[in-house]
Amino acid sequence: MKCRICTNSIEPFIFFGKMPIANGFLIENDFQNEFYFDMNTAFCEKCFTVQLEHQPNPDMMFHENYAFFSRQSKKMKDHFKEYADWVFKNYLIGKNDPFVVEIGSNDGILLENFSKKNIRHLGIEPSANVGNEARKHGVNTETRFFNTDTAKHILNKYGKADVILAANVMCHIPDLKNIAEAASNVLNQDGLLIFEDPYLGDMIKKTSYDQIYDEHVYIFSAMSIKNIFGKYGFELINLLPQSTHGGSMRYILSKKGSYKAEKIVDEFLLKEKKMGLDSQKTYEKFRKNCEKSRDDLIKVLKEEKKKKNRVVAYGATSKSTTILNYCKIGPDLIEYISDTTPIKQDKFSPGMHIPVKNYSNFIEAPPDTTLLFAWNHAEEIMEKENKYTKNGGKWIVHVPNVKKF
Ligand code: SAH
Ligand code: TMP
Ligand code: ZN
Repeated sequence: MKCRICTNSIEPFIFFGKMPIANGFLIENDFQNEFYFDMNTAFCEKCFTVQLEHQPNPDMMFHENYAFFSRQSKKMKDHFKEYADWVFKNYLIGKNDPFVVEIGSNDGILLENFSKKNIRHLGIEPSANVGNEARKHGVNTETRFFNTDTAKHILNKYGKADVILAANVMCHIPDLKNIAEAASNVLNQDGLLIFEDPYLGDMIKKTSYDQIYDEHVYIFSAMSIKNIFGKYGFELINLLPQSTHGGSMRYILSKKGSYKAEKIVDEFLLKEKKMGLDSQKTYEKFRKNCEKSRDDLIKVLKEEKKKKNRVVAYGATSKSTTILNYCKIGPDLIEYISDTTPIKQDKFSPGMHIPVKNYSNFIEAPPDTTLLFAWNHAEEIMEKENKYTKNGGKWIVHVPNVKKF
């Protein structure tokens, strides 16, 4: 295959097998026609970008029945309020009538904080259902993909932007050249492109291979962001590690020459070199860790079955699609997956077809053991479920190591 960024010839370092659409929760009638692709992940030694070999078409993933609603977690609501306050304080205060654009604004969880302050804003969100939810929260939203056409539209209708924000979407978009060009056209000369995504350093450290699924065509590091966006006229001027989604990074980029980069950027680049994020060997080792994690998880679940324990999973996350299909865990090992998102309930998990049920089932008849798929929300969930734990309910977590407690 060719690297999407620098066209270097590269080979996958891990083959996860056939994978369905991670957020493609489905009804029984659709089992027959379920779509699968080969999920292989490669690393480019020239530009240091970790990427999928194949990615399904965007409109197969992002449409009017998109299943991920950002507002399902209280912690994420708090996080996005902090993100908005931080942007406001650092980059918008004192500006005359600032304008904020967000790529992949989903249900408006971030932009509502600007809307409440009466700041001019625009969410670009191709999935119509989540975009409608954003409008209910007073967030100005347009149903479309962000690209150079959308940039023209924004310039005609609204004018230039002071900041373009994004969270958990830059890593979804294969053609970053087009995105950078679009962002550059929309931004003022001193405008900033600020986005956060799951961080490669955390994925490697925690063997959280469930960060790899159809939507995540890239898993970024500071090294790869510097290289990718450096090619397309941007400069990485600052970064800020985040605890969200099991370890993320916020990247702050300006047009080249408009700002001076903070020291922390070089410090991080050095740290990543020491971690070996620039070396193929690191990814070979990661593959071995993934295989061990898979074998350990299957073993623990089989022991539960032997003991005739009832096992339920918590959170029908997109990440869980990778775990279930790579480990081949089906309804024989997990009774159902509990999830608070209405659109996922009474459907089946992609590929392995485990029923997804309303959270009330979990409360009414707590299982013996719960597999925490939403491990990135562990703090919030452990607090919420402390009665279950106190009453002897057990947990299985697979990140950073498989353990039962
Ligand atoms: N920012 C939110 C949502 C992340 S999910 C959060 O962090 O919780 C990714 C979102 O990006 C989805 O709502 C999806 O529809 C949208 N998206 C995917 N590709 C996009 C593109 N090219 N332009 C704009 N939005 C996109
Ligand atoms: P995420 O890990 O991609 O954010 O997805 C989390 C999923 O878990 C989402 O479908 C909502 C669900 N969820 C619950 O069911 N209960 C909870 O308490 C939390 C925080 C999330
Ligand atoms: Zn490359």
